[in-house]
Amino acid sequence: MSDPSAFGPFAILRTAADLSGRVTRWRRQGRRVALVPTMGALHDGHLALIRAARSAADRVVASIFVNPTQFAEGEDFDRYPRQEAEDAALLAEAGCDVLFAPPVAEIYPSGFATTVTVAGLSEDLCGAVRPGHFAGVATVVARLLLLCRPDTALFGEKDYQQLAVIRRMVRDLAIPVDIEGVPTIRDIDGLALSSRNRYLSASERDIAPALYRILGEVASGLAEGRDAASLCDRAVLALKSAGFGSVDYVAVRDAGTLDPVSRLADRPLRILAAAHLGRARLIDNIGVDPDSAS
Ligand code: PAF
Repeated sequence: MSDPSAFGPFAILRTAADLSGRVTRWRRQGRRVALVPTMGALHDGHLALIRAARSAADRVVASIFVNPTQFAEGEDFDRYPRQEAEDAALLAEAGCDVLFAPPVAEIYPSGFATTVTVAGLSEDLCGAVRPGHFAGVATVVARLLLLCRPDTALFGEKDYQQLAVIRRMVRDLAIPVDIEGVPTIRDIDGLALSSRNRYLSASERDIAPALYRILGEVASGLAEGRDAASLCDRAVLALKSAGFGSVDYVAVRDAGTLDPVSRLADRPLRILAAAHLGRARLIDNIGVDPDSAS
């Protein structure tokens, strides 16, 4: 493991006051600041966010905070991988300036009583099977944005519904920040990179790329003018016969609003899915453009 201090003036900050002081200093110097919120256990997908942040801003802050409020009872909060020293070295090497890694009490001080809920968007898809999840995400992201006050904040498109919830929250609350979505980074066989992929056994890892392949089949069917509902039903069966366990959903949605759609017409669509494989719950999504129609 490399020593983060070997990569220049990289700093790990633990308190909101220290973060705010650092960002205020940068702003006085006329620097543009980017924030990349994460829960750690970093992989190349996160490092792509740091690289995109580097090109969008002069200074990059990454946060690592395994946010308890976005995990429901019985989910993987306790076993979520925590490897701060390794993550810090990766961030420093990728050109991040500050890692904000606060204790829980710094994000949720005693007496903290506010929850940010984005109605509608948060109740569907992943929200339907993980009640309260997006309220936890929206609340922590609002808090991080307001503590850091970046010019821009970057999130991966792999968590496409999360990105939509965050965009809506920022718009509704007029939080002064640009939200940038960064395309999903995939392994060579198509599996979207995720910190939770490490829950897969070797044989499950061999099955996992079927998720991306099957989303691609739904995309081809839509491009041929076929009906979304029957394509999604077939995709659920295909996932199960590939070896997946329960399938939470396969859905075709308007790429902007996430409203249900029945077939490809004149607007970009997003095909989204969540399915269980061993101890892992995998999510993925791909886009379909109207000009892909055959
Ligand atoms: O995508 C994640 O890692 C988390 O949901 C986020 C955005 C850092 C909020 O905890």
